[in-house]
Amino acid sequence: HQGTVFVFGSVNIDLVCRVDGIARPGETVLSARYEQLFGGKGANQAVAAARASRRPVAFAGAVGDDDLGRAAREQMRREGIDTAHLATGAERTGCAFIAIDRSGENAITVASGANLEASAGDLDPSLFSADTVLVLQMEIALAETLAAAERMSAARGRVVVNLAPVPADLRADDLSRLLAASNVLVVNEGELAAAARIVGVDAADPAAMAEALAARYGIEVIATLGGDGALVASADGGCETIAAMAVDVVDTTGAGDTFVGVLAGGLAQGLPTPEAARRASVAASLACRRLGAQTAMPSADEIDAALAGA
Ligand code: RIB
Ligand code: NA
Repeated sequence: HQGTVFVFGSVNIDLVCRVDGIARPGETVLSARYEQLFGGKGANQAVAAARASRRPVAFAGAVGDDDLGRAAREQMRREGIDTAHLATGAERTGCAFIAIDRSGENAITVASGANLEASAGDLDPSLFSADTVLVLQMEIALAETLAAAERMSAARGRVVVNLAPVPADLRADDLSRLLAASNVLVVNEGELAAAARIVGVDAADPAAMAEALAARYGIEVIATLGGDGALVASADGGCETIAAMAVDVVDTTGAGDTFVGVLAGGLAQGLPTPEAARRASVAASLACRRLGAQTAMPSADEIDAALAGA
């Protein structure tokens, strides 16, 4: 059965510079130039899903009434994403200030701007249906993310939540409500540990944490482990390991978003979660080969070729 993907989340313009070492507090570092690229975890995940899945992808969120917002909207349209539900807010379009060091690691500061005006209450009921996979992240207001998750859960659609970035003040009751309304949680190692700590799950290693969260909320928990691949824990106790594909890393920015978008696209195509996660893992590796988040996201054909060669 083939469904659609609906991403409700953030849009940013990324200002990216390469540095030898990321500035420490009080320090100034120089970089010869910067790039202006399209980003935001929500928009990135929508682009990854659109390129990889050949399924319809809709996006909702908010940009500013400015040139950067218009450019971001146009970029999503070029990727074939339905932007009819993307609002224009009063604040400026979100902006991410990104420094990339020589090993491809990054440090990111996001000015949220219009992203905080994204509203779940305004979303058209047609977006919430049983054959839709809703994709959520943590770069818009938590109350809106939660409301969208609960609307989709009530409509019997599926909900994939990427707990990135973990809000500093995320409360146990809100996270529990979010996970209870979700079907799949995607986290990196740090986010997994934070989620476990917040809801009081006591486990020694990532696999045990993922299994405990999966069992408690009756969901699938996918932990991405960078060069070590990923874990897929199911609600009934199983935990599968997915090996990573080795690539020369230029920039890991957007690798997590690629994973989430390709995973959601695979689920909308009807793939079982471990198989969708395998495609997502290969796609995330491919996305590390170029500077920028959306710049290196692979097409379905590129993912197929990499899987065949692996
Ligand atoms: O996950 C990468 C994204 O995080 C960047 O595109 C940046 O906009 C930040 O939101
Ligand atoms: Na990249």
